[in-house]
Amino acid sequence: MSSTTTRVGSQSTTKGLYPPTRSTPHIDPKGVDIAETILLPGDPLRAKFIAETYFDDIRCFNKVRNMLGFTGTYRGRPVSVMGTGMGIPSISLYSYELIHFFGVKNLIRVGSCGAMQENMELYDVVIAQGASTDSNYLQQFDLPGSWAPLSSYRLLEHAKRIADERGQRTHVGNVLSSDLFYGADPDAMGKWMKMGILAAEMESAGLFANAAAGAVDALGIFTVSDHLVTNAKTTPQERQTAFTGMIEIALELI
Ligand code: HPA
Repeated sequence: MSSTTTRVGSQSTTKGLYPPTRSTPHIDPKGVDIAETILLPGDPLRAKFIAETYFDDIRCFNKVRNMLGFTGTYRGRPVSVMGTGMGIPSISLYSYELIHFFGVKNLIRVGSCGAMQENMELYDVVIAQGASTDSNYLQQFDLPGSWAPLSSYRLLEHAKRIADERGQRTHVGNVLSSDLFYGADPDAMGKWMKMGILAAEMESAGLFANAAAGAVDALGIFTVSDHLVTNAKTTPQERQTAFTGMIEIALELI
């Protein structure tokens, strides 16, 4: 295997070999393993909830900045879950470290989204086939054109099959990973809607780009928590219950 040494922050590593990394600037597992498959909710307390509700043999692998991460087993298989924070910069630094320093191979974002098409309803599940973005994150790759951040077809196809078997209403397609929750341009969302974007969220384009650059698999699964066309919204309590279906689809992927 070819190896190139990369310096990231104060850490240096040998690409591809995954030396016994003890810690990175944002993840300090203190000897606890991180599984090859990880669920990535934005909220670290949701990561704790997922671990406590679904995992056996739970160990906490990260407390840096309260971005809680846990490893355990689900139906006997190793799995981890960790918060990512909100937005592309935050998920990008965590996913980069998970991929390049800890050897994580399957990164599954689970979160909420705002529906952008009329045929969608609150609590529907959106599976991201691709993630368009208004972020500049992709420019660092210096590609000679526009590159489309896509999810892993292997994970996507599997997730869709599981959702169908469970009778879950799903929409599969392009989401918008926006840097803007409160944007200045009132026409921006309408333009994205016309291009068939299903839903707005704030992280997947960064995750999919990091996964592609690191030659690993990533997917985004979302519950519709609010509707940008009808202005319908869920309450925090309703959201907690609705997320269960989406998380169970993600867990069945392991
Ligand atoms: N925008 C971005 N992220 C979201 C939204 C939204 O409208 N709803 C839930 N997550």
